[in-house]
Amino acid sequence: MKKILITGGAGFIGSHVVRLFVTKYENYQIYNLDALTYAGNLENLTDIEKSPNYTFVKGDIADEAFIMELFELHQFDGVIHLAAESHVDRSIEDPMAFVRTNVIGTVTLLNAARKIWKGNWEGKRFYHISTDEVYGTLGAEGLFTETTPYDPNSPYSASKASSDHFVRAYGETYGLPYVLTNCSNNYGPNHFPEKLIPLFINNIIHNKPLPVYGDGNYTRDWLFVIDHARAIDVVFHQGKNHETYNIGGFNEWKNIDLVRLLCGIMDDKLGRAKGTSAQLITFVKDRPGHDLRYAIDATKIKEQLGWEPSVTFEQGLEITVNWYLENGDWLNNVTSGAYVSYYENQYLIN
Ligand code: NAD
Ligand code: DAU
Repeated sequence: MKKILITGGAGFIGSHVVRLFVTKYENYQIYNLDALTYAGNLENLTDIEKSPNYTFVKGDIADEAFIMELFELHQFDGVIHLAAESHVDRSIEDPMAFVRTNVIGTVTLLNAARKIWKGNWEGKRFYHISTDEVYGTLGAEGLFTETTPYDPNSPYSASKASSDHFVRAYGETYGLPYVLTNCSNNYGPNHFPEKLIPLFINNIIHNKPLPVYGDGNYTRDWLFVIDHARAIDVVFHQGKNHETYNIGGFNEWKNIDLVRLLCGIMDDKLGRAKGTSAQLITFVKDRPGHDLRYAIDATKIKEQLGWEPSVTFEQGLEITVNWYLENGDWLNNVTSGAYVSYYENQYLIN
């Protein structure tokens, strides 16, 4: 039996990865380590929480003594590292939280893996999940490839870039067997409603303004979260050590076009007259350092590992919107309490 540690498994992407691994690999023991910050939610995993090959561990990846003890106790064969502070706007307010979790937390895990594996790398793998934001911004043309130089612009992307560099450095310096992926924007069920798509779905449901930053002409490349989880499975099992793979949907949308599309879908689903939700669109002050455009060239993972997205954007959005409409309790639970003060502060609502 293989013992796999998945960090951040109670979060958005992590919960889909945990579900995939727990259900697909019954011969693996999956340990989900998560600090349960505002973004971590065990409700995301109620369907698999009683599986015999699943264990939840509450803890902080930056707590060195705790992490060392955990690795010594369980002797993991593999680590799939997703735990992070993940929201750009929060990183602008509080960069240090991002340094602590994304940089110090990652190095703490790398140290534990190195010490426990002691150079016996056979069958061991450290998989670091990163983002396309480390490459900075594109102009109107071009795509990010695995060799695009790092050029992060936000405290979030700077912290992720730093963690990526540490992972590579541990590969070069100590020989740690790692794989690294840089993925584009995910969307889907269980996405915390501070990010564009779930925030706007929630606001449309409640007839609240849709705060579009700047002129809305910023471009993102959207990938359905279950396709990201499938890619992580493929890279974890078939990726080559010391390699990076970009993951993306070849699916670019300007924010304003995406918001208009979403408004139309929501009008249909909620039985509202065409054009009702679009009236909620409100242009607000831009995000500082806002990257103009992200777009991934995912040719390498397709050609070398045979992965490509399994759903179209239309199919993925349909599944996503239906999920939010059918899971009002989940939305209500995560938007109570601390969410209210975050939202008021971020959008300066009195
Ligand atoms: P998320 O914010 O939804 O989840 C992060 C999880 O990490 C939460 O469950 C949280 O409780 C946990 N966590 C935070 N700090 C922790 C700590 N100190 N110790 C232990 N657990 C901690 O994030 P997400 O959107 O699911 O992103 C997961 C990973 O994928 C991140 O590394 C992110 O950088 C990367 N990524 C995200 C996207 C995206 O579009 N969401 C795209 C590419 C890459
Ligand atoms: O590219 C991958 C990254 O995608 C991940 O690494 C991050 O963890 C994830 O949060 C996401 O970052 P973005 O900043 O691209 O996502 P966000 O949903 O915050 O914003 C998407 C776009 O929408 C961006 O151009 C900013 C804009 N936006 C966002 C919010 C929250 C608005 O116009 N209004 C908003 O209220």
